[in-house]
Amino acid sequence: MDIIKLGDPLLAEVRGVDLTKPLDDDARAAVNEAFLEHCVLVFRDQELSPADVIAFERIFGEPQIHVTKKYRHPKFDELIVMTNMNKDGEVDAFESRRGLGWHSDMCYLDVPAKATVLHPLEIPEQGGDTLFANMYLALAEMPGELRKKIEGKRGTFRFGGRSKDVQNRLDPADRDKPLIEHPVIRVHPETGRESIFVNPIHTVGIVGMPDDEAVDLLDEIYAWCGQEQFQARHQWRMGDTLIWDNRCTWHSATGDNPLRQRRRFLRGNISGILH
Ligand code: SIN
Repeated sequence: MDIIKLGDPLLAEVRGVDLTKPLDDDARAAVNEAFLEHCVLVFRDQELSPADVIAFERIFGEPQIHVTKKYRHPKFDELIVMTNMNKDGEVDAFESRRGLGWHSDMCYLDVPAKATVLHPLEIPEQGGDTLFANMYLALAEMPGELRKKIEGKRGTFRFGGRSKDVQNRLDPADRDKPLIEHPVIRVHPETGRESIFVNPIHTVGIVGMPDDEAVDLLDEIYAWCGQEQFQARHQWRMGDTLIWDNRCTWHSATGDNPLRQRRRFLRGNISGILH
């Protein structure tokens, strides 16, 4: 197995692994180590069935079932189908915005997702990339004054975030949930490293801070963390299987699909731990 670093801030390719076959203990340990070091891993040329994708998830932990039923895979509860199409199979403006904007997955739960796996079923001929940003690095390089303002603070999170448009389209059962709190600076349970955990899509406020002040502070954090030097871009090829660590990264779809072609992925989450 070879690990090839693709991006300076994060993202590496794992070569020499066939994910349709079980990995032995040494290979699993090497993959896990690379995952913790590079935060995002891509395995190329993998022809995976839904069951293979779930088996891949199990290298890293227990699959976590997504809160919303709307996108659930018809046969495998562990997976959702991430698509830009509506139920009639047409590329749709609202569905095309899914995944746009920096976020980490399931941060609106008490136990956010440890990781996310994405495996394409259809990709556009142009565009449709996914961006990643390293939140360890963003925090490590953050100016001291900004860091001082966020030390010890806790963010509040909600599925659908602040967007009224998204809120209105959610199932009431998903929408009307109490806000969830997590530290703005969160310690990674495996590496012990600190990173920024709030994000522009799902964080709605800061505990004990008036709303307008919280929005200003969050915007300042996002302006810092959203800088290009913390980012890497993944251009999709069929056969790619990606896994990213939600505990120390942000990701965002780019929405750059100029030909408005179909984009469809199998997507699974891996459960984190309460900490
Ligand atoms: C996601 O937000 O989980 C997916 C990102 C993408 O569609 O590129």
